[in-house]
Amino acid sequence: MKSMQNILVTGGSGFVGNRAIKALQGQYNLITPSHSELDITSADEVEDFISRTQPKIILHLAAISNTGYCEAHPDESYLVNVVSVENLARSAEKHHAKLVFFSSDQIYNGNHESGLLSEDVPVSPENHYGRHKLLAEERGAALCKDFVALRATWMYDIDRPGMKTHNNFILNIRNAKKNGTPLRFATREFRGITWIDDVVKNIPYTFDLPAGIYNFGAENHLNTYETAVEYAKILQCNPEEIAIPDTERFPEHIRNISISMEKAKIASKGKIQFRNTLENLREFHKANKVD
Ligand SMILES: NC(=O)c1ccc[n+]([C@@H]2O[C@H](COP(=O)([O-])OP(=O)(O)OC[C@H]3O[C@@H](n4cnc5c(N)ncnc54)[C@H](OP(=O)(O)O)[C@@H]3O)[C@@H](O)[C@H]2O)c1
Repeated sequence: MKSMQNILVTGGSGFVGNRAIKALQGQYNLITPSHSELDITSADEVEDFISRTQPKIILHLAAISNTGYCEAHPDESYLVNVVSVENLARSAEKHHAKLVFFSSDQIYNGNHESGLLSEDVPVSPENHYGRHKLLAEERGAALCKDFVALRATWMYDIDRPGMKTHNNFILNIRNAKKNGTPLRFATREFRGITWIDDVVKNIPYTFDLPAGIYNFGAENHLNTYETAVEYAKILQCNPEEIAIPDTERFPEHIRNISISMEKAKIASKGKIQFRNTLENLREFHKANKVD
């Protein structure tokens, strides 16, 4: 029998980590230390852990993922979101492992052009979280030859027992429906919003990607208000009861962080496939019916 590859997953107790581990179980020999078993901000702990466990692939999901918290605590964000990537990249290189790092579409949050953005557009992120993800990508690539960074979009799922779930797009809308209180959604914002199922299904294909930076999530040509209206229709509600157009947010220029998936599709020879935001909201709805 072919022996299973050792994969180290950091951040296994997190929103993505919980679901990624569930999806990868049985296909790989997963090594899933908790935060208290491995503090990724310590270079010594990381080196000791990787030299003992010898993973072939490190799937790095641990982070401070809350952008508001990172804005208020930039030093902590730098330590967890940048230094940890340096630590893992250095040890991955030394022990011949591939490092697959979850970055973010927030890297594009200083871009003003319209349309789906590809990985080679010049970027200048406007918040600490985006800047730290960009620094992590640069430093990871400099330290580790087999370094893959995945610029993930905003992700969603329902609450699942025993799993962490953040505040997210569909939960916000479902709450608006339940409480009868419509929410404001920006008409001048464009972003991909992705069901976590689509993300975890595609993770195994990232293990064969050539080193580089890849967008990773649903494409979306709709603005955030239009996306909310479409989801309200899927829920068979009157959109006005769910979503109010907010035309005032982002007055200076549109906020466009919507990604193009061309590069990952081509590099994975068509294996990495995401439905666009609207299609994956429809699929999500079929799989998770609500009243
Ligand atoms: N969620 C999204 O919509 C989204 C969108 C784009 C990109 N991303 C990126 O995707 C990745 C996964 O995000 P997520 O939403 O799953 O994050 P999350 O739910 O906030 O989970 C973060 C994980 O990191 C762990 N962690 C934090 N500090 C650590 C440390 N010093 N040492 C070891 N572990 C530590 C946490 O463990 P404890 O809880 O035990 O501290 C937790 O398991 C992150 O890189 C995030 O930036 C997420």
